[in-house]
Amino acid sequence: MTRVAHAGVGGWGRNVARVVGELADLAWICDTDEERQAQYGARYPQARVTGAFEDLLADDTVDAVVIATPVPTHHALAKQALEAGKHVFVEKPPAMTGAEMEELVALAEQHDLVLMPGHLLLYHPGLRKVKELVDAGELGEVACVYGNRQNLGVIRSNENALLSLGVHDLSVILWLLGEEPSEAVAHGTAFLQDGIEDVVFCFLRFPSGKVAHMHLSWLDPHKMRKMTVVGREKMVVFDDMELERKVTVYEKAPWEPAETYGEWRTRTGDIYSPKVSTDEPLKLELQHFLRLVTEGPGGHREARDGLAVVRTLDRLSASLRSTQ
Ligand SMILES: NC(=O)c1ccc[n+]([C@@H]2O[C@H](COP(=O)([O-])OP(=O)(O)OC[C@H]3O[C@@H](n4cnc5c(N)ncnc54)[C@H](O)[C@@H]3O)[C@@H](O)[C@H]2O)c1
Repeated sequence: MTRVAHAGVGGWGRNVARVVGELADLAWICDTDEERQAQYGARYPQARVTGAFEDLLADDTVDAVVIATPVPTHHALAKQALEAGKHVFVEKPPAMTGAEMEELVALAEQHDLVLMPGHLLLYHPGLRKVKELVDAGELGEVACVYGNRQNLGVIRSNENALLSLGVHDLSVILWLLGEEPSEAVAHGTAFLQDGIEDVVFCFLRFPSGKVAHMHLSWLDPHKMRKMTVVGREKMVVFDDMELERKVTVYEKAPWEPAETYGEWRTRTGDIYSPKVSTDEPLKLELQHFLRLVTEGPGGHREARDGLAVVRTLDRLSASLRSTQ
C-alpha cells in the first residue's frame, strides 16, 4: 500500500486526510497548529504527527506527500517534497505565479515524479459527463462556456476571489476546450479589504474563436456553482447545487433553414438530464493520484494542465491590477 504523508488539516484539508486514510497508508500528519496535531493524532493513531514538514520528508518509507496548507505555502512545500524525491499532490493552486509553477513542473519531470494539482472538479462525475458530451460532438461545435461561482462568504483574507474561486472554473474551462486562451481580461473590485478583490468578472478568448466568462464573487445573494456550455446543436448546464439533476441537456440551437437562406430561426427540442454517478469527487481525484504514483507520471499531463491554469491566472491577475 502506498505510504502517504499529509500536511494541513484545516477546513478542507481534514476531508483530504480522511480520504487519504481510506485509500492509502496514512503514515504522517503534519500541521503547524499544535491543537490540530493533538486532535488528528488521536483520530489517526497509526500516523506519526509533527509540526515540521522536514520530518516527513526525511522518512524514506514515505512514497507521496499530500499538501492542503494555505495557498502561499504551496510552492515552497511542493518544491521541498519533489527535491526529497516524493510524489506530490498539492491543493489548488500549487503556485501563485506561472514562474513558480514552471519550476515545480520542471522538477517533477526531471525526477520523474508525479505532481498533481487539486483540480477537484475534473473528477466530478457531472463534469465528466459534460466533457463526454463535448468530446463526442453531441453539442455540435462549442461556441462559449461560462462559469458562475458566487456565494455570500467565505470571505478570505490571504487570496482574492480570482485565486480562491477562479481556479476551479478555469481548470474546467481549459480542460473542456483543450486550449489556452489568447486573450485573458479580468475586471474586479475590492469592497471589503484593501487589495483583496471580492467581485471579479473574467473574459477569455481562445485561438479557435471560442470564448468563456467567469463570474467569481463572495458578495452575492445567490449560492451558484454552475457551468454552462453553449454548442451550435445543443447546450448543457452543470449545476452543483442541484441534488439530483446535476447535468441538464437542452436541445436548443439557432438554425438556418435552407429555404430561408440568411434568416435564422431557433430550434427547441427535449430537455433531459443524463444519469450521473454519486461517487465522491475527492475520492475519485485521490484514487487517480495514487494510480499515478503506482504506475508513474507518464507524460506529466496533470502537472502541465496545472501549469496552463496558473499561467492563465497570472494573466488574469495582471489584467485585474491594470483595469482598476
Ligand atoms: N478542492 C477544493 O474544493 C478546496 C476547497 C477548499 C479549500 N481548498 C484548498 O485547500 C487548501 C487548504 O484550505 P483550508 O480551507 O483547509 O485552509 P485552512 O486555513 O482551514 O487550513 C490550513 C491548515 O494548514 C496548516 N498549516 C499552515 N502552514 C503549514 C505548514 N507550513 N505546514 C503544515 N501545516 C500548515 C494550518 O495550521 C491549518 O490547519 C487551500 O489551498 C485551498 O485553496 C480546496
